[in-house]
Amino acid sequence: MSDLRKTSVQELLRSTDLDREVLVKGWVRTRRGNKYVQFIAVNDGSGFNSIQVVANAEQFPEEKLKADGVENGAAIAVRGRLVASQGKGQSVEIQAEEITVYGSADPTTYPLQKKGHSLEFLREIAHLRPRTNTFGAVLRIRHAMSFAIHKYFNDHGYFYIHTPIITGSDAEGAGQMFRVTTLSDTKPPLNEAGEVDYTADFFGKATNLTVSGQLEGEVAAMALGKVYTFGPTFRAENSNTARHLAEFWMIEPEVAFNDLQDNMDLAEDFLRSLVRYALEHCPDDLQFLNDQYDKELLNRLQFVVDNEFKRLTYTEAVEILKSAKQKFEFPVDWGTDLQSEHERYLVEKHFKKPVILTNYPKDIKAFYMKLDEDGRTVRAMDVLFPGIGEIIGGSQREEDMQKLTQRMQEMHVPEEDLWWYLDTRRYGSAPHAGFGLGFERLILFITGMANIRDVIPFPRFPKSAEF
Ligand code: 4AD
Ligand code: MG
Repeated sequence: MSDLRKTSVQELLRSTDLDREVLVKGWVRTRRGNKYVQFIAVNDGSGFNSIQVVANAEQFPEEKLKADGVENGAAIAVRGRLVASQGKGQSVEIQAEEITVYGSADPTTYPLQKKGHSLEFLREIAHLRPRTNTFGAVLRIRHAMSFAIHKYFNDHGYFYIHTPIITGSDAEGAGQMFRVTTLSDTKPPLNEAGEVDYTADFFGKATNLTVSGQLEGEVAAMALGKVYTFGPTFRAENSNTARHLAEFWMIEPEVAFNDLQDNMDLAEDFLRSLVRYALEHCPDDLQFLNDQYDKELLNRLQFVVDNEFKRLTYTEAVEILKSAKQKFEFPVDWGTDLQSEHERYLVEKHFKKPVILTNYPKDIKAFYMKLDEDGRTVRAMDVLFPGIGEIIGGSQREEDMQKLTQRMQEMHVPEEDLWWYLDTRRYGSAPHAGFGLGFERLILFITGMANIRDVIPFPRFPKSAEF
């Protein structure tokens, strides 16, 4: 086997160069057959489909395959001839000449011995679930979407900014933060007031994991014009829902001289082009998810590509919700934050398309959003998607120093922590806007999966950080 180079399964399945010797390496998905012939499906992760290896029983009797450990889950190498397939379901197959087992998988204990495990069970074996059809598909789509995001921004002249993960400012107010410290668990130094003395900590001040890269993104936009961040963010909220994680990835573009209109145009073009990319580049994985989990998936994706989003103000949305025939668990009134049931009513029942809501009451939004002329609302925008609710949150930012600091005082945001952020308004301030797209919420939408814990390799949520 030594001088022959291995070929990926996807490359072999696409090959038209037949009747040649090939070498493939991967994991056994299934082995079946009879006393004349054994069929081994080998998958190396390169794509959704496995390649069929045909092992003639004269050379490879079932008993010998079993004794050698050629069982579901085993890692093997197969040397053989690539030939046109006699059977249905594949165009080529390999007639085995030599099979080497790298690592067997004991069929009496291997957790994925049988197919059809529930997603809940698979969550408990997050280290093995990438070997299933479902998670292979989700993880390849996740990769394709990260690539498409970088490609979109690169093609449109944006610069990728690496914003910090450990932050000394806990002022954005986007959610509860995780403390980062190297102080002793049992005997931290205390100050005169009896509180933990963080001046003795690693950074000389209290630090946390970031909830968003936006504020640093704004700093970069005031120099490079068009920037984006794409990194992990952390929120210690106790939200045990199918749409919240404690550690999730967020994409945050920030653009100098953009207003709310430009921001909406960017969000819409960006999302539509990502969905289009998935349809063009992940057809096998999407088809599987469509057939297995959600028969409307491909239609829904195509619908988003083909149709413009509905844009309306928060105030208009509240009117629609108040006159809706549907009973909501949470009442709607001007000034209250919309719940996911309200967002989904607007998207799924009323408009039946993605919706962008704008101009929310200032009291339910962050301090940095630009105040509208009426003094009651801000230039916020949330993009709401079918099955998801909020997928993007963003705004035009307040560029006026006076108005910004006034909002900070009203909302008890400490100015001294954000002196560097305020310098952007002090020196060469300019109108600008940006938004945050929750990466896992995007992947939920693209894959049609129902739970956000199933679209990230190792989900972090309350009481769960095993892997
Ligand atoms: O609306 P959010 O909190 O906005 C911000 O953090 C702004 N700083 C973004 C900006 O303007 N640059 O979060 C943005 C998006 C949400 O729309 C949602 O998709 C996602 O991040 N998100 C979560 N995703 C998973 N788990 C959570 N706990 C999430 N919280 C927010
Ligand atoms: Mg939000």
